[in-house]
Formats: sequence, structure tokens, C-alpha cells
Amino acid sequence: MKIQLVLPLKKHQKDVEAFLKVCKQTPSGEMAGTSGAENLSYDDWLHKVYDCFFARNLPENYVPAATFLIYANETLVGFMNVRHTLNTFLEEAGGHIGYMIHPHHRRKGYAKAALKDALSYAKDGLKLSRVLITCSVDNEASKKTIKSVGGIYQNTVDNAQLGTVHRYWIKL
Ligand SMILES: CC(C)(COP(=O)(O)OP(=O)(O)OC[C@H]1O[C@@H](n2cnc3c(N)ncnc32)[C@H](O)[C@@H]1OP(=O)(O)O)[C@@H](O)C(=O)NCCC(=O)NCCS
Repeated sequence: MKIQLVLPLKKHQKDVEAFLKVCKQTPSGEMAGTSGAENLSYDDWLHKVYDCFFARNLPENYVPAATFLIYANETLVGFMNVRHTLNTFLEEAGGHIGYMIHPHHRRKGYAKAALKDALSYAKDGLKLSRVLITCSVDNEASKKTIKSVGGIYQNTVDNAQLGTVHRYWIKL
């Protein structure tokens, strides 16, 4: 399967806006990995993404992170957010990586393939030796995705913001 993680540019605006429009219309369309694209103008979002990538103007308690678009050939199929480090909240419940696949493109293996690429970025780009990924206790799709790339269940925590989440570590 040919997928690519790409940093967002101005030329991706139409694809991103069309993607988010569909997600907002989908009842089960939980947003994840978008770095807040759904709440910002495209240009403001790009600024935020690059500020975060280069650790510029980070709000208190924010960590540097990379937000990628997931392309399959010419089609935008998802978002992938890789936090470069963990703070207290991320260590407890948020984890290093968040992701979402377009509702019309699920169950085709895209999350699994994109997560493998995100793990390569964490290992080779960030020099991390292990990565924490978490998911809601009732998110079967995400649990299977995490396990499919080597996630080892550690524990379950109740978090005020995210609810009950399972924590998985992946050795890189
Ligand atoms: C979770 C999500 C990213 C999975 O994306 P996807 O591209 O459909 O997943 P894949 O096709 O790569 O499948 C990965 C694994 O999950 C399983 N899976 C996918 N969707 C599933 C579903 N709805 N129910 C049960 N299992 C599912 C697949 O069978 C596969 O398991 P396998 O390797 O054992 O065969 C997608 O459902 C999504 O975007 N959900 C909303 C946002 C979200 O929950 N993000 C995760 C936050 S932690």
C-alpha cells in the first residue's frame, strides 16, 4: 500500500477543507490528530502547525509536535499528529500520537500503514526509543490499530479530559 505522510502546505487547503466538511457531517466522526484544524481558518492552522513543529510560541503546557497529512496516491485520507515529547497530561492519558482516517476510507489499512510511518519518524527523526499511544476504552478500531503495530497494553486510567483510556507502549 502506497501512503505518504506530508507536512501540510497552502496547496493542500482544498483537500483539508473538504475532508473536515465530511467529518463534521458524520455523526461518529470523532476528530483526532488534526491539531485543531476544524476550529481554525486554514492559514491560522498552518501557522499553528509550523509553530508547534519548530517549538515557536508554544502555549503553556504544549509540547512540540508534527502534524502530517496522510495521502494515499492523490487522495487525502487522514491526519497524523506526533508529539515530540510527553508532558504530564500526555504521559498519563494523551500519548505521543493521535490519528484519524476519513470516514469514507476506513478499514482499508490506512491507519496501520500511516502509524508505521509515524513510528519510523519517532525512531529515526526524533530518536525516541519507545512511544506511548492511548485510546478510549470503547474504541475497538484504534485498539486493534495500536496492537497491529506492536502496542503492548500497560494499563487503564480515568482522565478528567479524555475519560477512561487504555495506555499502550510501543518499543521502537
Ligand atoms: C481508528 C481509525 C484511525 C482506524 O482507521 P482505519 O484506517 O479504518 O484502520 P485500518 O484499516 O488500518 O485497520 C487497523 C486495524 O483495526 C481494525 N479495525 C478498523 N476499523 C475497525 C472497526 N470499526 N471495528 C473493529 N476493528 C476495526 C482492522 O481490522 C485492523 O485490525 P487487524 O490489523 O487486526 O486486521 C479510524 O477508525 C478513525 O479515524 N476513527 C476516528 C478517530 C479515532 O478514533 N482515532 C484514534 C484516536 S486514539
